[in-house]
Amino acid sequence: MNPLALRDAFGRFMTGVTVITARDASGAPVGFTANSFTSVSLDPPLLLVCPGRFLSTFAAFEACTHFAVNVLAEGQEDVSNTFAGYKGDRFAKVPHHFGAHELPLIDGAVAQFCCKTYQVVPAGDHVVLMGEITDVSHTDAAGLGYVGGRYFSLGLERETGAGAATVLGAIVEVDGHVLMEQAETGMRPVQVAGTPTGAQRDHITAALKTRGLRVQINQVYSAFSDDEAGVRHTYYLAHAPHMDAAPAGMCLVPFSALPAQAFSTPAIGHMMTRFAREAQSRNFSLYLGDAEGGEIHALS
Ligand SMILES: Cc1cc2nc3c(=O)[nH]c(=O)nc-3n(C[C@H](O)[C@H](O)[C@H](O)COP(=O)(O)O)c2cc1C
Repeated sequence: MNPLALRDAFGRFMTGVTVITARDASGAPVGFTANSFTSVSLDPPLLLVCPGRFLSTFAAFEACTHFAVNVLAEGQEDVSNTFAGYKGDRFAKVPHHFGAHELPLIDGAVAQFCCKTYQVVPAGDHVVLMGEITDVSHTDAAGLGYVGGRYFSLGLERETGAGAATVLGAIVEVDGHVLMEQAETGMRPVQVAGTPTGAQRDHITAALKTRGLRVQINQVYSAFSDDEAGVRHTYYLAHAPHMDAAPAGMCLVPFSALPAQAFSTPAIGHMMTRFAREAQSRNFSLYLGDAEGGEIHALS
């Protein structure tokens, strides 16, 4: 069987994202991102997760007497990326506290399960680590989603307003520049019109591909209605690989030059000025509202 095809097929299954934590033999906190979490039994209360043998901390998870499952919330993409890839002290980068059995618990998680190891079953290149839940807590916040190698945020995307006529846009970053379109009234991010709701990222990706742009669409950045025109705008953050020159009708504007541009509408001007400011710290937030006013939501 082709392992890449198998991995891609597994990846079509939509999941949440968890961080599994424990302590190693020396007592140091260890953790990794996992979407193999599954609830198993209510009585006794059991769950499972599958740590891979490739993990640098595999020995700790295979031998642990206790472990915790932290179900990540929308906006915790950075936490997931840290526990999936960062090679330094992951816990130094992520706010956390210690719970039952002195297990590390990630702040802001939507559900947390502290477990006593129940069974460890070898399973190919992973083990099935089953835990008996001793402590549980949860909030009503929405969880972070994952499918096809990408995150999604159902709660936030629902709030962006299904149903209305929509303009979808992408704030496409290219090497410290943003790819802007030249509209009659001024500059605006790359736009895609007449889009059905749902699968918005795929729609933008496909539409931009027909314009010769290979773009990775990330999180929603701004959603607002233009009541006069009866249109809802939704803009995503996006990346494109290096390009020598912008395609016809577009230009590459350095982040620092954004606030000085003439934009197609005041609402787009506000959004791009906020983007230029937030890009300095890479600390992006989400705007939900209308063209006049709305709320900024922290994303990380
Ligand atoms: C969304 C997501 C889900 C993952 N699920 C699992 C999993 O279920 N089991 C696993 O062993 N690794 C999983 N990984 C990969 C590990 O998080 C990653 O290999 C690990 O953190 C690397 O740690 P290391 O550098 O200490 O080896 C997942 C990664 C991501 C981004």
